[in-house]
Amino acid sequence: MRIVCIGGGPAGLYFALLMKQLNPAHRITVVERNKPYDTFGWGVVFSDATLAGMREWDAPTADAIEVAFNHWDDIELHIGGRSIRSGGHGFVGIGRKKLLNILQARCEALDVELVFETEADSDTDYPDADLVIASDGVSSRIRQRHAAVFQPDVVTRPNRFIWLGTKQLFDAFNFLFEKTEHGWFQAHVYKFDDTTTTFIIETPEEVWKAHGLDQADVAQSVAFCERLFARHLGSHPLLSNARHLDPLKRGSAWINFQRVRCKQWSLFNGQSHVVLMGDAVHTAHFAIGSGTKLALEDAIELTRLFKTHGDTAEHIPAVLQRYQAEREIDVLRLQNAAWNAMEWFEVVGTRYCDALEPEQFMYSMLTRSQRISHENLRLRDAAWLEGYERWFAARAGLEVPAHVRPPSPMFTPYTLRGLTVPNRVVVSPMALYSAVDGLPGDFHLVHFGARALGGAGLLYTEMTCVSPDARITPGCAGLWNDTQRDGWKRIVDFVHGNSGAKMGLQLGHAGRKGSTQLGWQQADDPLPEGNWPLFSASAIPYGANSQRPSAMTRADMDSATADFVAAARRGAEAGFDILELHCAHGYLLSSFLSPLTNQRGDEHGGSVENRARFALEVFAAIRAVWPGDRPISIRLSCHDWFPGGNTADDAVAIARLFKAAGADIIDCSSGQVVAGQKPVYGRMYQTPFADRIRNEVGIPTVAVGSIFEADHVNMVIAAGRADLCAVARPHLADPAWTLHEAAKIGHQAIAWPQPYLSGRGQFESNLRRAKAN
Ligand SMILES: Cc1cc2nc3c(=O)[nH]c(=O)nc-3n(C[C@H](O)[C@H](O)[C@H](O)COP(=O)(O)OP(=O)(O)OC[C@H]3O[C@@H](n4cnc5c(N)ncnc54)[C@H](O)[C@@H]3O)c2cc1C
Ligand SMILES: Cc1cc2nc3c(=O)[nH]c(=O)nc-3n(C[C@H](O)[C@H](O)[C@H](O)COP(=O)(O)O)c2cc1C
Repeated sequence: MRIVCIGGGPAGLYFALLMKQLNPAHRITVVERNKPYDTFGWGVVFSDATLAGMREWDAPTADAIEVAFNHWDDIELHIGGRSIRSGGHGFVGIGRKKLLNILQARCEALDVELVFETEADSDTDYPDADLVIASDGVSSRIRQRHAAVFQPDVVTRPNRFIWLGTKQLFDAFNFLFEKTEHGWFQAHVYKFDDTTTTFIIETPEEVWKAHGLDQADVAQSVAFCERLFARHLGSHPLLSNARHLDPLKRGSAWINFQRVRCKQWSLFNGQSHVVLMGDAVHTAHFAIGSGTKLALEDAIELTRLFKTHGDTAEHIPAVLQRYQAEREIDVLRLQNAAWNAMEWFEVVGTRYCDALEPEQFMYSMLTRSQRISHENLRLRDAAWLEGYERWFAARAGLEVPAHVRPPSPMFTPYTLRGLTVPNRVVVSPMALYSAVDGLPGDFHLVHFGARALGGAGLLYTEMTCVSPDARITPGCAGLWNDTQRDGWKRIVDFVHGNSGAKMGLQLGHAGRKGSTQLGWQQADDPLPEGNWPLFSASAIPYGANSQRPSAMTRADMDSATADFVAAARRGAEAGFDILELHCAHGYLLSSFLSPLTNQRGDEHGGSVENRARFALEVFAAIRAVWPGDRPISIRLSCHDWFPGGNTADDAVAIARLFKAAGADIIDCSSGQVVAGQKPVYGRMYQTPFADRIRNEVGIPTVAVGSIFEADHVNMVIAAGRADLCAVARPHLADPAWTLHEAAKIGHQAIAWPQPYLSGRGQFESNLRRAKAN
């Protein structure tokens, strides 16, 4: 085959040499606009695993890289005069120049034609090529030329960064955080050969501008960074090798990361097949340092496919199709992790630097990509993690003797006002549709009893309705009379008398989503008969089959508030430890909060303050009658997942209002506000809302949504992304979810009910046996 690679970065060079090695008969040219052995940038990092993959395909290249590698295990954080180090992270670093030199030399040895100082204009400049590799980097001209086919999605991110070097040496991957009068800067610092260190400095656009760096030339920018990081640099200067930049062009040394994705990776231009590779088709932020890895692995995969399916011109279309199919998933996974890590560095200055203590900041930083979990950190550096768990337990008020293994964060107590829950697991509120006339019965007693005996720290009732017409369905539980109060008291007393668990009461009003069928019938559809009238913020029905609600009058609002107050009073009498006001999921209070369902022209509609007014009125009214030593939680839909609806920004504003009103904790759910919502589901998918509200507003939060393993709870709690984790569906599948998860992670210090002890022994030894096999 005749192959031309446009761009002699890692992708183009490596693919060229792999294909030449696969079959020396291929005629391969790499066209590069730079001079030979000339490049921008300093060191790059990738993992041992990438190198192992390279060795399989071309041992001489892997050997040469291995000799030039700098290997290190530790990550060190410097913030606020503190340094914290943890090990076991296993990086390899190499100068970008050195890497390219190795690839260029290997290309030459294999007889790949290298054409330097030549700018390729177009993929059609090579009419004899069967295959053109567009490995021309993040600003790929070839990608832009065929944008209609490749359909690139390029997102420019808000942080500014500058890629510098220094002769100051560091013996770990260092993250340095420095505060200025305008905000925080961070440096990502790693040595890549015996004498040189990469020093990437990053800050949000507004901080960058506030320092006038948009007006600074390269030398002025470097001088600014030297002053800022002086205490880490010893007597060494920072060095710029941005030869591709105009040194006098103001602000030019600082760039924004561009995240690139493409819908289509290849095409036929009428004479050659053209395929994008490396940064030209996908980028990954340097926060997890994997752009070079992706480029090299692209080259390996395309070579593997040619080897498997035939490396002659007629196989090109099929191979290119498979190439995209095979690579796309791995790349997306890595891009998602890189995105999380990148976002962490974008918000770190406003969200974490001042809010988290250095110990917790370190944990948050290490788990920023969400790929490294709590137990994974234990494998990397058990001693560091144990030290952190000990620190966390002490912060939670637990005295753990030095010779005793500290509990993981999931099993530390948590206190709000006069309430202390024994661990961080909450049985999330879940409608059971099993009440008669709102009265919780034997089903409820057994349901909550089983989950209290099952180890959860706090159990919430389902949305308990404040009046008969506040119910979602005829099966919903209520608290509008004393019989119901006594029904709940029987349950609360059982829980308190037989377990360490606490009981929470979720109070709500269904609003426009009321008078519908049970959850397992035509949920959200009206009853076949016996419907009751509905109220909402505005007279907008929920779904196509739904009843039209009336927009609440002031009198309706006062009457509903009185119902909430009466129910809160009865809840206190029943002995509930915490009250949660349900302001989520499109029910009455939520219908006021969302602009999609609130189109009122009075003081309860319009701005976020107005939309929150009624929920705040209800909150103030129940707070006045709820005992002062018991906390109140607010459940919010932190995103409506619908255009024009509330987003996380609104949730932050609403949480601020509730904090100012005296709420104790925000339970961060999302959605279910309007039919037609498009939520983005995934593991722990709502936790970012809890994280943001907790650390930006400064109020405790509950995370909920697809949290289904102890590892998830530990990650969320340990990183300070929330204070409690609510777990719903796993508790429907397993009432003893908490006890079982404790056993899986080897947490012994949790009491099983005495009568169940022999079951515990067998459960734990079966787990040990399964692990050993
Ligand atoms: C600050 C920073 C730090 C990074 N750190 C890391 C890291 O630690 N680890 C990591 O793995 N990755 C890192 N990367 C990313 C990494 O540099 C890229 O992902 C990687 O180089 C991609 O390789 P590539 O071959 O696709 O593109 P490039 O390396 O960009 O190569 C493209 C080549 O094409 C040439 N070219 C472009 N257009 C033309 C044309 N029209 N004609 C001829 N030649 C052309 C360019 O001169 C260039 O040599 C970092 C990037 C940045 C910006
Ligand atoms: C059957 C069922 C009933 C629910 N009822 C309520 C409820 O009454 N009040 C509430 O706030 N959330 C309710 N939810 C939402 C859960 O509390 C929780 O937020 C959601 O299921 C996500 O958590 P998970 O992924 O752990 O299931 C319900 C969920 C389920 C599955």
